[in-house]
Amino acid sequence: MFNMKKVTYNGLTFEPYITREQIATRINEIATEIKRDCDGRIPLFLCVLNGAFPFATDLFRAVDMDAEIAFIRLKSYDGTATTGVVKEVMGLTEDIKDRVVVVIEDIVDTGRTMKRLVEDYLTPKQPAMIKVATLLFKPDSLQCDVQLDYVGFEISSKFIIGFGLDVDGMARNLPDIYIQSDEK
Ligand code: IMP
Ligand code: MG
Repeated sequence: MFNMKKVTYNGLTFEPYITREQIATRINEIATEIKRDCDGRIPLFLCVLNGAFPFATDLFRAVDMDAEIAFIRLKSYDGTATTGVVKEVMGLTEDIKDRVVVVIEDIVDTGRTMKRLVEDYLTPKQPAMIKVATLLFKPDSLQCDVQLDYVGFEISSKFIIGFGLDVDGMARNLPDIYIQSDEK
């Protein structure tokens, strides 16, 4: 992999894992699927901040159709261990009743965040349809039933960073995705 070296944050080492080219290719494929599934209706993309913003930006630009975007923010994660609790949802001012909503998330790990968001928060607002797009999915970590309509990459349960994903706020601006290395 050209031009990609190991990186360190907080004393942890991360190795190159998914390149920006692989990400771009997959995003274009997902965009095509979303356009097909929307079947002429104008979707409202709902970007889950902070982690999903690079994915949402590229996906939103890649869908070759009329679409709207809004941003919400959840809090559920501390360092490298999930707390499993969605503390709050901030920012949705749009009326989503009868809309096609496409939730855009960076990663589904235990699935608790997505389950809470969809079941407790979005569904009661009566959208016509909820679709979930996640760039990354850790199937071995999943602890609840969530419907994932578009998955960029299925990955191992190791901790990863880059392309929006952070370690205590850092590394979100890496253009590629890195995986935690076993070495110190
Ligand atoms: P879940 O509720 O366990 O599915 O956790 C989802 C959230 O945990 C994601 O939106 C991320 O913010 C965070 N997360 C899970 N795995 C990772 C990782 O490997 N790197 C960075 N953040 C992660
Ligand atoms: Mg997130």
